[in-house]
Amino acid sequence: MNALELFLKDFPTYQNTSRIDEIRRMDYAILDQQGHIYLDYTGGGLYATSQLEAHQELLRTHVFGNPHSYNPTSAQSTELVENARKYVLQFFNAPEDEYVCIFTQNASAALKIVGEAYPFGAGCRYLLTFDNHNSVNGIREYASARGASVTYIPVILPDLRINEAQLSAELHRHDDGCFNLLSYPAQSNFSGVQHPLEWIEQAQALGWDVLLDAAAYVPTNRMDLSRWKPDYMPLSFYKMFGYPTGVGALLARRSAMKKLSRSWFAGGTTTVASVRGNKYYPAEAPAAFEDGTLDYLNIPAVEIGLRHIQAIGYEAIHERVLCLTGWLLRELISLKHSNGTPLVKIYGPLDMEARGGTLAINFYDATGKLIEKRLLEKEGNRRGISIRMGFFCNPGAGEVALDISSDELSSCFSRPRYEERISDLDFQHCIDPKASGAVRVSVGLMSNFADVQAFIDFAGSLLE
Ligand SMILES: Cc1ncc(COP(=O)(O)O)c(C=O)c1O
Repeated sequence: MNALELFLKDFPTYQNTSRIDEIRRMDYAILDQQGHIYLDYTGGGLYATSQLEAHQELLRTHVFGNPHSYNPTSAQSTELVENARKYVLQFFNAPEDEYVCIFTQNASAALKIVGEAYPFGAGCRYLLTFDNHNSVNGIREYASARGASVTYIPVILPDLRINEAQLSAELHRHDDGCFNLLSYPAQSNFSGVQHPLEWIEQAQALGWDVLLDAAAYVPTNRMDLSRWKPDYMPLSFYKMFGYPTGVGALLARRSAMKKLSRSWFAGGTTTVASVRGNKYYPAEAPAAFEDGTLDYLNIPAVEIGLRHIQAIGYEAIHERVLCLTGWLLRELISLKHSNGTPLVKIYGPLDMEARGGTLAINFYDATGKLIEKRLLEKEGNRRGISIRMGFFCNPGAGEVALDISSDELSSCFSRPRYEERISDLDFQHCIDPKASGAVRVSVGLMSNFADVQAFIDFAGSLLE
């Protein structure tokens, strides 16, 4: 049997997703025409030609003005933006009386809204898992500046999941009179681990607010906000369907938005602002959190993208990702040098239980020495493979995976010349070779067997 036959035998449900192959041929033809092996879906999704055409057609056949007026061109923009907003809520099955959709520039901007305006205070807590993206880690700076205590719950090797008893103990430790926030990723952008969505209810029952970072989860997993009710859920649309970039959203419970208090206002965020009267009245969410002019030409393309995902169907996307990741894991683990030394180390779950299609990997030679990323990158690029190297803005998971201790980090960061600034390269000199991180391979919407097999062949070429 050849590799494809073996794959289909072991992952027979892949064939139920064959419509995606058809869509790829028609709507993503450039991928194969240009010989791309795209394996960086956690970095960014890919767009279909039909999305571009639908968007271009819309722009070609209308005149759109700034939505902050009531004239005809403005009204057309407002209508499309508000339709897109409604559709985003509908897509995530979010009841409109309970959730609000705030358009932002990306997931990071959505996170910043929460960080800036959450009522952290002395005695309050900001609790977060180690495997958060830096844009979630960054909220700790707002929390500690306002006197809240910041606590990280470590992820644990080999699976890079957390100890749930520890989480529960931390959730029970809080002051009732305070605002306390728990943040965690629904799917880690480092390891692909999917943390239980049940934590949302568990934390809320104890009086916590919950920020669920859905940026890496929603591209291949359905999120139903009538079932799971995080207080704040940031995401970036380009990660789901590639186009447009520059638009994200904060989906938030109306009650949770009422807790946020901003220390500035901007065009569009007030009902009335006065210079002589030295006063302003904040608008309600979403307007209160959408600074200045929205990206009103691109926001309609969000609805086009979401409808595109809807037409393909999460069931097929999810199934395909499960099959391809399962095969990738199995084949990579089986690669051994002639002396029996494994070629790869994969950080995170080695089976498909509660994980998505993101793999963090390192490669080793027959003596057990790490193969340099520079060499991997060169050979990967030569083969047209798009993968990501480093820590992927997720230092907590990376430090645990690569066993970089706090002592090692403090001794590096406390060197006089690194007190103010440190470059990537300096950091690598401090912690070398662990500081070079890992290789991230991620599958998504349009991945196929040939993509993952090309990566397995590339890995196989590193065997001695
Ligand atoms: C889990 C997660 N959260 C947040 C972000 C930030 O997204 P953006 O860079 O689009 O703001 C990313 C991006 O990689 C991510 O993977």
